[in-house]
This record gives sequence, C-alpha cells and structure tokens, in this order.
Amino acid sequence: MTIHIGAEPGQIAETVLLPGDPYRARWAAQTFLQDAELVNEVRGMLGYTGTWNGHRVTIQGSGMGMPSLSIYANELIRDYNAQTLIRIGSCGAMQADVNIRDVILAMTASSLSTPSSGIFKEFNFAPPADWGLLSAAAQAAESKGISTHVGGIYSADVFYDERPDLNEQMTRHGILAVEMEAAELYNLAARYGRRALALLTVSDHLQTHEALPADQREQSFGDMVEIALTAAFA
Ligand code: ADE
Repeated sequence: MTIHIGAEPGQIAETVLLPGDPYRARWAAQTFLQDAELVNEVRGMLGYTGTWNGHRVTIQGSGMGMPSLSIYANELIRDYNAQTLIRIGSCGAMQADVNIRDVILAMTASSLSTPSSGIFKEFNFAPPADWGLLSAAAQAAESKGISTHVGGIYSADVFYDERPDLNEQMTRHGILAVEMEAAELYNLAARYGRRALALLTVSDHLQTHEALPADQREQSFGDMVEIALTAAFA
C-alpha cells in the first residue's frame, strides 16, 4: 500500500491505463477486462486489475491535472513497478482540421510548468511519447478505421485559462490539442525509464466551441481503450 493507492504488492499489473475519471476506470475495466478486481478505492480514485486477451492490466483513475496524475504515476512506478503507462483522456482541439471525436496520439507534450519544474527550472525539457507504443497505437487505430492525428499537444495547468494569447501561440505552432496531464506522465516515464503514451479523444473545440454530446462520450472512450490495449501488447 502507498499513501494514495490501497492495492497490495502484486495487485497492480505492469501495464496501467490511466483515465482521469475514476468512473471511467470502472466502466473500462467492466467492459474490456476479464475477472476485473477492484484494487484501489482510496479517496474514490478507483483502480481495477484484470486481464485482456490473457495479459494482466490495471486501469487506475489519475484525477484531473498534473499534480494529481503525478501522485498516482509516481506511486505506480516507484512502489508497484509499473512499466507501461497509457493515459486515456479527453482534450480540447486547437487546430481547424482536428474534429470532435478524433483521437490524438501525443508525440510530445509541451507545458508551462509541471510538478517536475523544480528539477528543470528554466530548462525547457521536451518529454516525448514512447515510440513503440506510439507507432503501435497509430496502426491499431488505422486498422479499426478510427481517425487519428499524431503530433504535439499542450498540457495546461488550468482549464479556465485567462491567457488566450498562449492558446493562440500554441495553435500557431501546430499544437493539436490541450489537456492537463500528459507532460508530467512523460516526464516521469523519462526519469524512470518506463514506456508512456497519451491517447486523447477530442471532447471540445477551442475554435468552433463544439462539444461532444454526453451520450456519445462512451463510444469514443471505448475506441480509445481498445487502441491503448492493442498498443500495449503489440
Ligand atoms: N480536456 C478536455 N478539454 C479540455 C480543454 N478545453 N482544456 C483543457 N483540458 C481539456
């Protein structure tokens, strides 16, 4: 057990999927895993371990924002020996050719600050995704006929951003979308030599102000879980 995860040693798999929302963790585990067992409910941040096509997988909620994700990813890596960590989340599109429901494979994650900023200070460390996971996810999405974009994303510190000029600069520099967790996940994977990837469904568009209707979120989220599982064991 750790401060934030109640699982016993051995109850967490080496492959961990990380949705922000703990209810999404429960839905994904009940929908995609065999013999899913609840392994964490500390603070309601649900985590389940089961098998997918015979492979052990944990699906653990990470909460919203990099400070929260950092807690779970640190403990999963350092205390439970997680080797492959895939964020499955949502994002806001920042380019005109990126549409609601599209899936983004985050090759890099830019940020203004992360919980790791204390290490880097003024240095602008650019943490990337794991190439093997990224290319396997691109192939899995293509074979399922799911429209994807591969490129850079931006991990913001705030959802209600009072600095629209920063978003404009991100768009100008080709950033595909904004979310709030991936940069710290990639920092931690780089630090501890683990594999990481962020898969993001576009839930809203910063330019058109469109948003994915609530009744269509489950289907898009399910597509992403399948891509993540296929890529993890490719
Ligand atoms: N996650 C989903 N949509 C987002 C947005 N517009 N900004 C930050 N994080 C998000």
